[in-house]
Order: sequence, then C-alpha cells, then structure tokens
Amino acid sequence: MAKRFLSGVQPSGKLHLGNYFGAIRQHIQLQNEGEAYYFIANYHALTTIQDAKTLRANTRDVAATYLALGLDPAKAIFFRQSDVPEVTELTWLLATVTGMGLLERAVSYKDKIARGLQASVGLFTYPVLMAADILAYGSDVVPVGQDQVQHVEMTQDMAEYFNNTYQCRVFRRPEYRLDKMAKVPGTDGQKMSKSYGNTIGIFSTGSELKKSVMGIVTDSTPLEEPKDPSKDTVYALYGLFATPEEQETMAERYRKGGYGYGSAKKELLTKVDSYFAPFREKRQKLLDSPSDVEDVLADGARKARAEARKTLDAAREACGL
Ligand code: ADP
Ligand code: TRP
Repeated sequence: MAKRFLSGVQPSGKLHLGNYFGAIRQHIQLQNEGEAYYFIANYHALTTIQDAKTLRANTRDVAATYLALGLDPAKAIFFRQSDVPEVTELTWLLATVTGMGLLERAVSYKDKIARGLQASVGLFTYPVLMAADILAYGSDVVPVGQDQVQHVEMTQDMAEYFNNTYQCRVFRRPEYRLDKMAKVPGTDGQKMSKSYGNTIGIFSTGSELKKSVMGIVTDSTPLEEPKDPSKDTVYALYGLFATPEEQETMAERYRKGGYGYGSAKKELLTKVDSYFAPFREKRQKLLDSPSDVEDVLADGARKARAEARKTLDAAREACGL
C-alpha cells in the first residue's frame, strides 16, 4: 500500500532558505512517492501570532509559496489546519490519556520557557495538537526537521496510550523521517532561523536580497591569501545551488588565494536570484488571484476532513462517547 506522508508548516513569517532546503523541497518531492497530506498549521501559530490580519496574510503567503514551488494539488492534499476542526476534538481525547510528565519533557516547551516566553496552556499542550494532526489522517511517515522529532515520538506514545487504554487499534504508529539537509547556515553562520534574524528569504529580490547576501559574515583572511571553503558560510550556501563542478571550481579558487569573499558572494547572489526566478512569477500570479488559492485549500480541506472524521468517529466509539 502507498505510504501516507504528512507534515505541517507554521505560517509564522516569511519562509527562508533553511525552510526550503530543510523542509519544503522534500515535501514537494514526496508528493510523487505516496499519498501526501500537507497543511498550514494555523492553530499552532496562535501560540505565537495573536493578530488576525498577520495570521491571515502569513497563511496566504505560505499557501502561495508552496504552490509556486511545485506543490501539485492533483497529487498532494493541501489544506489549512483550522479547516479540519475534528483535530481539536481529537486533541481532547488524546489529552485525557496523556500524562503531564510526557509533556513536561518537551524540549521545545522547555526552551521557550528558558528564553523567557510566557507559557500559555496552548503552548504546553502543543504536542497533543500535533499528535492529533498526525493521527487523524493515519499518517505513516512524518517528514520533519530535528526540532520536531521529539514531538513525533510523543505522538507514538500517545497513540499507544489510547490504543492500550481502550483496547483498540484506532491509531496507527507514525514514524518520523529526518530531512537529510541537516542545517542551512544563516548570514551569521548559526543555523538560519527567523528567530535569529539571519535569514535569506526564498522570494527576496533586488536590494533586499543583495543586502542579506553581501552581509554574510566571513572571516578576515585577506583577499590574496588561501581560504578554507569548508569553514565558510558563503561557500556552504553556494553548494545548495551549484553543480558539483561549480562547487569544485569555487573551492579551488578559495584554496589558491587571490579570490575574495566579495566575489564569492556575487556568485552566490546570481545563483539564488536565478534559481527562484521562475517560481517568483508563479507566486505573484497566485497572490494576485487569492480565490484560486482558496479553491485549492477548500478542496484539500474537504478531502482531509473526510479522513479525519473517520478516525474521530472510531476514537469516539472506542471511548464510549
Ligand atoms: P525557524 O527556525 O525559522 O523558526 P521553523 O522552525 O518554522 O523555522 O522551521 C520550519 C521547517 O524548516 C522545519 O522542518 C525545520 O526543520 C526547517 N528548517 C528551518 N530552518 C532550517 C535550517 N536552517 N536548516 C534546515 N532546516 C531548517
Ligand atoms: N510543529 C510543527 C513546526 O513547528 C508544525 C506542525 C504542526 C507539524 N503539526 C504537525 C509538523 C504535524 C508535522 C506534523 O514545524
């Protein structure tokens, strides 16, 4: 039987190269390898974005971005999380079989608290909502980044608690799939992340793109001296776009000396710009015709909802509701 893939992406800001190479690209490839369910996690986003206009705008932006980059609604089911309210009911059913201890161990929650963020009940129970997302559609494989692995493991536990408590087999055990592209570095050399302000936007262009690429932090080796490509962020980012031959050519220039970081940045800039150019046009068209995007999401929601309904009915039956 075809495997069912599922993943969610939060509409929490402009998507960047880390999101593309670490997640979006794999999601789009997987639509050819099985049944793919992808959704915009706007319920989850409420734990951080509490402004209706911003949330709506970000949601439209993520939808247009995925569709422009190649998500094909004829192959993948693409929808808004909140269009399947069944997951919130399922969240409650799972919450009643889940111990406090499990959620208290959640690294993402502990990190946020450590950074001084105010914790809402929603932030604490965030992994239960995520488990409901995964289990509602009988997902086999959940492609995620490293930071979400623990949440998928918690989902496995919650599925088992429920099945054991009610002596049933309502939930299928999901597995995570770690995206191979480990870590895309940001302009300061740390992991690219919107929370570090070191991102290069997928659809950034012109002076904005130039500013972020030219601002990449490099060491102070003088132009004429040899440089180590393996220690440089510009080279690492160039490798995401260039062919192996192009990478080798640049590596040789680094090692030989007489080649400055400024020149490498210009080559990188050209690559980023031309790589995303065809997608930019498509994205603009989608942003200009919001009703087309709406139709795709509505159609996706209809299919996703039918699936979630079946799971929820089975879960309700199992626990005597
Ligand atoms: P951010 O760190 O900007 O808040 P998210 O946590 O929303 O990004 O990440 C969404 C998806 O993109 C996740 O699957 C995550 O693993 C992936 N991702 C984000 N940043 C990177 C990065 N620098 N390298 C690789 N993957 C990334
Ligand atoms: N929590 C995920 C993130 O922040 C998004 C998400 C919500 C998700 N529900 C999911 C990912 C279910 C995979 C499966 O990136």
